[in-house]
Amino acid sequence: MSGEVPIPEPPGLPLIGHLAELDRELPIRSFISLADKYGEIYRLRLPGRSLVVCSSHRLIDELCDEKRFLKVPKGALHEIRQGVHDGLFTARLEEPNWGIAHRVLMPAFGPVSIRGMFDEMHDISSQLAMKWARYGPHHPIEVPDDFTRLALDTLALCSMGYRFNSYYTSELHPFVAAMGDFLTESGNRPNRTMPSWFYRKEDAKYWQDIETLRTTADEVLQERKNHPSDRKDLLTAMLKGVDPKTGQHMSDSSITDNLITFLIAGHETTSGLLSFAFYELLKHPEAYRKAQQEVDMVIGKGPITVEHMSKLPYIAAVLRETLRVDSPISQYALTAKEETLLAGKYLIRPDETIGVLIKKAHCDPAVFGADAEQFKPERMLDEPFNKLPKNAWKPFGNGLRGCIGRPFAWQEATLAMAILLQNFNFVLDDPGYSLALKQTLTLKPRGFRMRASLRDGLTASQLENRLAGKEISPASPQGIVRNGSNSATTNGHSGKPMTVLYGSNSGTCESLAQRIASEASHRGFRISRLDHLDTANGSLPKGEPVVIITASYEGQPPDNAAHFVSWIESLKGETALEGVQYTVFGVGHREWAQTFHRIPKLIDSKLSEAGATRIADLGLADVGSGDAFVDFESWEDGVFWPALAKQYGTSSDESDVLQGASLKVTVTSPRSSTLRQDVMDGLVVSTRTLTAEGEPVKKHIEITLPSDQTYRAGDYLAVLPINPKPVVERAMRRFHLPWDSHVTISSDEISYLPTNTSLPAHNILGAYVELSQPATKRNIAGLVEATKDQDAKEALKKLASESYEEVLAKRISVLDLLEKYPSVDLPLGVFLSMLPPMRVRQYSISSSPLWNPSHVTLTFSLLEAPSKSGQGMHLGVASTYMASLQPGDTLHVAVRPSHAAFHLPQDVENTPVICVAAGAGIAPFRGFVQERAAMIAAGRKLAPATLFFGCRRPGRDDLYAEELAEWEKEGAIRVVRAYSRDPGAKYRYVQDALLGEEEAVLEAWRTGVKMFICGSRAVGDSVRAAVMRIAREEARREGKDDSDEHLSEWWEGLRNTRYASDVFD
Ligand SMILES: Cc1cc2nc3c(=O)[nH]c(=O)nc-3n(C[C@H](O)[C@H](O)[C@H](O)COP(=O)(O)OP(=O)(O)OC[C@H]3O[C@@H](n4cnc5c(N)ncnc54)[C@H](O)[C@@H]3O)c2cc1C
Ligand SMILES: NC(=O)c1ccc[n+]([C@@H]2O[C@H](COP(=O)([O-])OP(=O)(O)OC[C@H]3O[C@@H](n4cnc5c(N)ncnc54)[C@H](OP(=O)(O)O)[C@@H]3O)[C@@H](O)[C@H]2O)c1
Ligand code: HEM
Ligand SMILES: Cc1cc2nc3c(=O)[nH]c(=O)nc-3n(C[C@H](O)[C@H](O)[C@H](O)COP(=O)(O)O)c2cc1C
Repeated sequence: MSGEVPIPEPPGLPLIGHLAELDRELPIRSFISLADKYGEIYRLRLPGRSLVVCSSHRLIDELCDEKRFLKVPKGALHEIRQGVHDGLFTARLEEPNWGIAHRVLMPAFGPVSIRGMFDEMHDISSQLAMKWARYGPHHPIEVPDDFTRLALDTLALCSMGYRFNSYYTSELHPFVAAMGDFLTESGNRPNRTMPSWFYRKEDAKYWQDIETLRTTADEVLQERKNHPSDRKDLLTAMLKGVDPKTGQHMSDSSITDNLITFLIAGHETTSGLLSFAFYELLKHPEAYRKAQQEVDMVIGKGPITVEHMSKLPYIAAVLRETLRVDSPISQYALTAKEETLLAGKYLIRPDETIGVLIKKAHCDPAVFGADAEQFKPERMLDEPFNKLPKNAWKPFGNGLRGCIGRPFAWQEATLAMAILLQNFNFVLDDPGYSLALKQTLTLKPRGFRMRASLRDGLTASQLENRLAGKEISPASPQGIVRNGSNSATTNGHSGKPMTVLYGSNSGTCESLAQRIASEASHRGFRISRLDHLDTANGSLPKGEPVVIITASYEGQPPDNAAHFVSWIESLKGETALEGVQYTVFGVGHREWAQTFHRIPKLIDSKLSEAGATRIADLGLADVGSGDAFVDFESWEDGVFWPALAKQYGTSSDESDVLQGASLKVTVTSPRSSTLRQDVMDGLVVSTRTLTAEGEPVKKHIEITLPSDQTYRAGDYLAVLPINPKPVVERAMRRFHLPWDSHVTISSDEISYLPTNTSLPAHNILGAYVELSQPATKRNIAGLVEATKDQDAKEALKKLASESYEEVLAKRISVLDLLEKYPSVDLPLGVFLSMLPPMRVRQYSISSSPLWNPSHVTLTFSLLEAPSKSGQGMHLGVASTYMASLQPGDTLHVAVRPSHAAFHLPQDVENTPVICVAAGAGIAPFRGFVQERAAMIAAGRKLAPATLFFGCRRPGRDDLYAEELAEWEKEGAIRVVRAYSRDPGAKYRYVQDALLGEEEAVLEAWRTGVKMFICGSRAVGDSVRAAVMRIAREEARREGKDDSDEHLSEWWEGLRNTRYASDVFD
């Protein structure tokens, strides 16, 4: 046709075409990735069919024209059709049964009928709430599983008066099990590549499942026919309803088809919506708080009624926004009625399927702006929602074939949200959890667990009464109370109760919290609770010390403290927390000058403003200039324990510097070695050294992600390392432990070490503790006690006092001291209790999912230098560990999303990019460039990008030089290099290169460039200074204010909008 432009498609393979492009477990990952690469439209040739995938608003708007495009059940829908024939979901439009059922059932899904189902929906939601209440606050809830039970039980009850009672049995009802397997197989069948006999077993199971589904539904139907009832459910509507057009009733087989159809179409979708909604709320504390406040204001503590359902605009916005960013049905299929040109240029034939990729179209920046990928319920409040362009939000499908169950799902989801937010506070079970997907017919979060604690001091039986609409006796007189049991309680200790709460991403504050908890029993306290701050959202205990230890991240709370901070920020009045006695210790890094210690300071002041009593002054540690453990110990000894002794009449003495003595250790040497049974997540695919012999080593490692993990270029990989073998050997040697010795640790105090189980000593020393942290003063005092040698005593005492600076400067560890002073006879248990737990290290991912969505690469510098202590080499724990890995090795990893701003701009076609990196700081930018190269190879035209890269010498540590040269040729990047140790180089450092290219930088700035900076903190500072210099010159030329203060404010104000930096030492 004239004006036709070819639809881009990836290079395919004979026979299977593009099948290999699709991730079998998570096809959506491939569909999105291909859309990122090829743009708004692409074609895939799959066995026996051609699929054109569209993902921009403008194309989808056009596809919603029912005169040109219609739904024809193909692929998985065709397979489901074998079980439910021409039921509503799988029928062809022209089939008479579709028309009859559609017209009979439309009124049954109308507002009046759905209101009539409220009580039964309430019944099932209440069962869910009671189950969670009885679990208690520390039970990890399998969120999608429990919402699936909710959706299934609600549908079965409201559609046919049948109770699956999923909350009361651990086994799935046979109908539910059959349906799950049937749906999974229906999804697999279209992608079969082997002859049919190969799948005999699967086929037999598939038909058997269909038989189970149909027999059960037939029985329900017969039962109702035999015992007619006046229930106002969908079954009654189907039995009694008359099609106004034909005057016909629905046939029995059509009723059976549709009974099963409702369960199929309605259960995964609604449970997916609720699961994603809770995930998003937990990740967005501000939205969580607003949603809960709305429930509190509109419904209060009383019974929830059907009238409330339309009075919760914020909850509605949360559900809409969830369906936008996390559509459970991510894609649906259409067919062109006849050959047609889409967007006036893409030829679509009627024999091919059109995939409407709403998950991607819902994030079209042309409609939703540059922050389209972010969850922001505000944009879905009624007013902006109603102003959205036509067909911009399509989670329920389109037109005549749109979802008939939408009002049903809406009422059910609104009610469940309201009941749950009214009565519970939620936290992520793993605060570091980031969304992983599971795909069957629909999408759901995978591995998403949360914990629920009852609000307002409610007990489970009080909740039962409230849900039943009965009066309940008032909550605990304290007003703010703890719910249920505590996560960590020291058994067998008397003493005054104490709560310890922490906000921590990478484990420093968590281990400080553990330290204080271990110490408490020696000071006359017992730990009533040790948990992360979010578990105290909305409830702080009174009448006992509450110790809060927290870090800040870019001025924001750590992942597990965001809800708590949002809560205390919202507290009004000076008495809200009266009776709470607290103290705060903050850990920060001075390099984040603007937001140094922001969160601990904020918590300290907010609690005080809300009427809580500060029992000890705020303590602060700067990990940029010292060591958190050391500063913490000084605060504990100098401020915290003495203040507590004064307030509570307990002892402030360091009663027992050998505090670990209550860790009892038994060492055995078994004759046979026991194999380790580590459960490892990531798999090493390959490793290579990027630097020339003699240069400081930088390496590249490729890792297969755990199957459910996804990532974006710019994200991080957290790696849980193992201590370098030579360091473990030093410890083993010092404690005279044979290599096969086993250790059993028993402790009646809180310990992060595995207790009451026999483990190899090298495993404990290798995997559980940090061996190279500087010794604290208290550690050294412990060593003094453990030696009889007077000289050693004196030397150590000096180190713990006037020479302590030396310990810090040289990073002298306890192990270093034990080696230096052989007379110290320290029990192994005491040594272990002195060490902080092993923590993860983060690495910028240096690949793009467009290269491979299930593999990541890292680019890292090996830290290996003569130890500052003068004793041997300092081997960086994680970098040495990763450098030692070989292909086939497994390791513990997790993807951690980076700041929302640290990703390629959404509008890659029009937003130029400048990246500035030195050394291993190139990591995220390799991912960016790889992504751009993939897009260009797919035929997209991108705005220009420049990489300023600093290294030492050409051909020596000029990382990825060959790859970058290829990518430069393809137009994915322009590289400007600075060589710090090559006297002939044009630029020495990246900042010199920026200044040298000032004109180009300014020009890019004017055209809306987005800048990214990555490397060591020092590099970050140098780049900042260079940009400010360029800006100053420009300001001068334009006669504007060019003071340092003004420029500094200007630059800070642009953070995370015009530029994003990821810098760390
Ligand atoms: C968000 C983020 C992304 C990152 N991305 C990357 C990346 O892509 N690539 C990369 O290479 N790194 C990256 N890093 C840094 C990385 O996380 C680690 O910090 C780094 O690899 C060192 O870890 P390690 O376990 O090997 O060293 P550790 O065992 O943690 O040792 C480091 C500590 O030892 C101290 N030390 C240094 N030299 C000596 C010495 N001679 N004697 C005694 N003590 C010494 C240091 O001051 C430091 O406190 C990133 C960091 C962050 C926060
Ligand atoms: N996302 C992140 O936060 C992230 C990601 C990756 C890496 N990193 C961190 O970045 C750092 C990079 O270390 P590396 O070992 O890869 O680097 P490197 O090899 O030691 O240095 C690379 C280049 O940077 C130069 N340089 C040193 N100080 C500089 C300064 N103040 N301004 C500009 N250039 C400077 C060096 O010059 P000389 O010849 O003068 O030394 C060298 O040419 C590490 O600390 C790593 O942990 C962070
Ligand atoms: C949040 C929850 C839900 C979502 C996101 C959702 C989404 C959708 C979508 C996208 C379609 C169109 C599919 C296509 O074009 O192939 C659809 C159709 C359908 N849905 Fe839903 N749905 C939900 C809940 C429900 C519920 C609770 C029921 C039943 C009570 C239901 C019953 C149906 C039926 C019968 C169809 C087919 C309509 C027809 O073609 O006539 N859905 N749904
Ligand atoms: C990405 C990043 C951002 C940070 N932002 C801040 C900050 O804004 N203010 C601050 O005082 N410290 C900041 N820090 C330093 C941390 O608070 C410090 O590393 C602390 O030890 C982390 O504690 P944790 O291990 O318990 O999470 C930041 C650290 C990182 C890695």
